[in-house]
Amino acid sequence: MKKIRVSLGERSYSILVGRGAVARLPGVIKEMKFTGPVIFITDRNVLTRTAPLIPPIVRKLSNEVYRVIVPPSELSKSVAIYQDIVQKIAKKTRMHRPLIVALGGGVVGDLAGFVAATYRRGVPFIQVPTTLLAMVDSAIGGKVGVDLPEAKNLIGAFKQPRVVLMDPDFLSTLPARQLRNGLAEIIKYGIASNRTFFDYLDANVKKVLSRDKKVLEKVICECAAIKAGIVKDDEFDQKDIRIVLNFGHTLGHAIEAASKYSDDFNHGESVAIGMVMAGEIALRLEMFKADDLDRIKCLVRNAGLRFVARNVPFKEVVNAFLHDKKFTAGSNRFVLPVRIGSVKVVENIPEFLVKSVIRQYVK
Ligand code: GLY
Repeated sequence: MKKIRVSLGERSYSILVGRGAVARLPGVIKEMKFTGPVIFITDRNVLTRTAPLIPPIVRKLSNEVYRVIVPPSELSKSVAIYQDIVQKIAKKTRMHRPLIVALGGGVVGDLAGFVAATYRRGVPFIQVPTTLLAMVDSAIGGKVGVDLPEAKNLIGAFKQPRVVLMDPDFLSTLPARQLRNGLAEIIKYGIASNRTFFDYLDANVKKVLSRDKKVLEKVICECAAIKAGIVKDDEFDQKDIRIVLNFGHTLGHAIEAASKYSDDFNHGESVAIGMVMAGEIALRLEMFKADDLDRIKCLVRNAGLRFVARNVPFKEVVNAFLHDKKFTAGSNRFVLPVRIGSVKVVENIPEFLVKSVIRQYVK
């Protein structure tokens, strides 16, 4: 079992990666000396996928255990579902302070984490991510929250888990499209902060796609270690360090928003296109080489992802970009590559340049 430490003073915690990690849950709860009720927040799809793994672990817990099941959709990250969950918890636990276990992908992790951050002014929680995307990104670093109709993640908090248990066995039943969803974020780490890791992915992408256990475990550990290092230095996203994790996300989000968060583009599929567009902007600004951009496109393609968005209205993508809530009046901010393995924040990119790049990659 590999252990990666997220060093945040009294909020420090370990990420355990390896087959059988989830079976450590009873031991972890015992070590925490937590004797109150344990609430698993999960969704129906995860419940089906994890059916052989979870019940024997739950039987080993001496705590009272309850389940709260939410619909398997981004729409579950809503204030209404949040309220429903906390009311259920209040009823089930008769007001005792619970421990929350987030068992699922990014939606479940963000929602359950937000419940943990706010219910009774904060209760402990454990992340058990079951998708590749959640393992390499959302389950680490404590960003939790829910969406509003106006924008995603508009209500949220920083709430670090007590431990993250990453069991690659969950990935054997993950749909292939979900695997590629996570792979886009994995490629992001290589471009944003580690060229050697990018080279490794270049050589091993087919093995990730065929779920080679050793390669998957190495990739998850590498991403977790990169993210742990970034979060340690900028937990609250205020020092222009954590922002590198947004590489590919500005125009990626614009594609997601323009396609109305439909099934046409999932997060990773949008980020893949967003990364290539960021590379193209950097190329046109003469701060990035064409050869490096070609390498990114090649890896994206070999990962089974696209770098051209089809059937999304160009105008809608531009509108979503112009109304990005993260930009302050009149100015935009992009994370752009300097070379593979290194990015920097660039502000006020001329609108005509961004539009021209969108025109090139949105058909
Ligand atoms: N997913 C970006 C971050 O955690 O900062």
